[in-house]
Amino acid sequence: MCGIIAYIGDQEALPRLIEGLRRLEYRGYDSAGVALIEPDGVWLRRAVGRVAGLAAETSDGCTSKVGIAHTRWATHGGVTLENTHPHLDATHRIAVVHNGIIENMEALKAVLIADGVEFLSETDTEVLPHLIRRHYTGDPLEAVRAALSHVHGTYGIAVAFADHPDVLIAARFGSPLVIGLGDGETVLASDPQAIVAHTRRVLYLDDREIAVISADGAKVQRLSGGDVNRDVSLIEADYAVAELGGHEHFMAKEIWEQPDALLRCLRGRVQIERGNAKLGGLNMTPRDMVNIREVVTVGCGTAYHAGMVGSMAIEHLARLPAHAEVASEFRNRHPIIPPDALYFAVSQSGETADTLGAVEEILVKGGQVMGVVNVVGSSIARTCGAGVYVYAGPEIAVASTKAFTSQVTALLVFTLMLARTRNQSLAQGENIARALLEAPDKLQEYLDDPGPIDAAADLVKDAKYCMFMGRGFSYPVALEGALKLKEISYVPCEAYPAGEMKHGPIAMLEDGTPVIVIAPRGSQRDKVISNIKEVQARGARTIIVHTRGDDEMARLADVSIPVPEVREFISPLLTVVPLQLLAYKVGIALGRDIDKPRNLAKSVTVE
Ligand code: F6R
Repeated sequence: MCGIIAYIGDQEALPRLIEGLRRLEYRGYDSAGVALIEPDGVWLRRAVGRVAGLAAETSDGCTSKVGIAHTRWATHGGVTLENTHPHLDATHRIAVVHNGIIENMEALKAVLIADGVEFLSETDTEVLPHLIRRHYTGDPLEAVRAALSHVHGTYGIAVAFADHPDVLIAARFGSPLVIGLGDGETVLASDPQAIVAHTRRVLYLDDREIAVISADGAKVQRLSGGDVNRDVSLIEADYAVAELGGHEHFMAKEIWEQPDALLRCLRGRVQIERGNAKLGGLNMTPRDMVNIREVVTVGCGTAYHAGMVGSMAIEHLARLPAHAEVASEFRNRHPIIPPDALYFAVSQSGETADTLGAVEEILVKGGQVMGVVNVVGSSIARTCGAGVYVYAGPEIAVASTKAFTSQVTALLVFTLMLARTRNQSLAQGENIARALLEAPDKLQEYLDDPGPIDAAADLVKDAKYCMFMGRGFSYPVALEGALKLKEISYVPCEAYPAGEMKHGPIAMLEDGTPVIVIAPRGSQRDKVISNIKEVQARGARTIIVHTRGDDEMARLADVSIPVPEVREFISPLLTVVPLQLLAYKVGIALGRDIDKPRNLAKSVTVE
């Protein structure tokens, strides 16, 4: 989604801003722009489409050492040059880039229009430079502070003033900003990914904070007034590794990184000899665990699916009520929050607006919520204050892969802890711990021999519709497989619990419709065989993901994809991988933009 990068320092800003925008490209966007401060005013260049197009627009060059830049993912107003950020005030001496949504834009616009302001775009953002101009009496900090006191909604903004080339102003409410403290330069961004080329030393802005940024550093204040002493944080080392490493796409790289990601998530946390695990970030004693009466996960998309797997494992192994909620529904339905329930907010980016909104709703109602988050220091991690980092490393491809398996792994580690306080003996705990620690090797074993994915992709790529089905732990995997295929290939598809087929979806099948069945060994296997026969009787061609050595399943399949044998609750970590590969191969076959699929953004920071 929208990205911000701003630079002030002793070097030319333009190449650094363009490079920063390139590093933000993975988030998804549809136009980009840059504004630099020159002695005679603001130097503005914007382009619809890719950052490469913007770079071409700036080929006349600009030697300024201060500027702001933005990648826009359209919300208010179409994808046009006029709507592209930065936006300027009428005198062209104040430039603003903005992430978030201004909810009272119509009211603010009406006041400004009555004042004689002429609007050039359909964006909500454009009210900001005009509003700041209205309050400007020579002090940039106070002008932005005063303007924001009239704004309802969410914002992460960077503001440049032609009259003050020695400072930039940044402010945050509900949309992340991080300030990188370099040597003779300071860089502001909405995402640490755009900062690591300059420095690892950062200050995270919190909600309702405003900062004056200069080449020497930043001074942070509360929007309501008063200084804030923010400690410097260090961005983790692996943030710099946003390279393809020999793979054609980040999605492929991230699929192949999964054994390592799982290892990082498990390392030092699971102990076989104790038949238990430790997640220090939860700050929970066994006594605290025993008092939990219910576990609920909240998340969106892939993170929701990971939560489904986690909650099934909790019910299965710890015998505690558990379920998963879609964050966007949960936050808006005035949910009941039992005080003895434990909520997990599952999020790769840690910035998803709906999940953050759910966290805030849980906290307002006195509930207990922890993060299951990948990006260290992100808004959800910091708002929860406690939780589990999944340590998947930076996920650049828009379609989430290694974050899913890492989120599931983190929730399984928690499940082991919870189960040991309740109903699993030491010996049983040892078995669960062993099964978890074996998962990275099993995943590697599968990736070394991924099976006939090309043959499966051949069946799917020209299909006008296909279906995914599974039971129990394999139902969330079916949902995740269908989501991946939609995102990357745009092939129409749906996922159903296999037992639901007869209640309607089976009507969709025609001669040759591909049905992808997730059917590992376990409690549901035999029932799924009946479902496979039912769909085959209606002409479906089946791609079956099953346990290696299950010859009956292999014989039933048009395309048989075996995965190594693991315990049932671990199976999603294995069975999802062929589905990720299938989506990838179909996307390639159809010539799709794999890492940046149409209409999607990596981090969905608006409701
Ligand atoms: C799917 C995908 C999305 C995200 C969802 C939540 O491939 O990437 O469905 O899973 O937008 O994002 P996070 O995990 O960042 O909260």
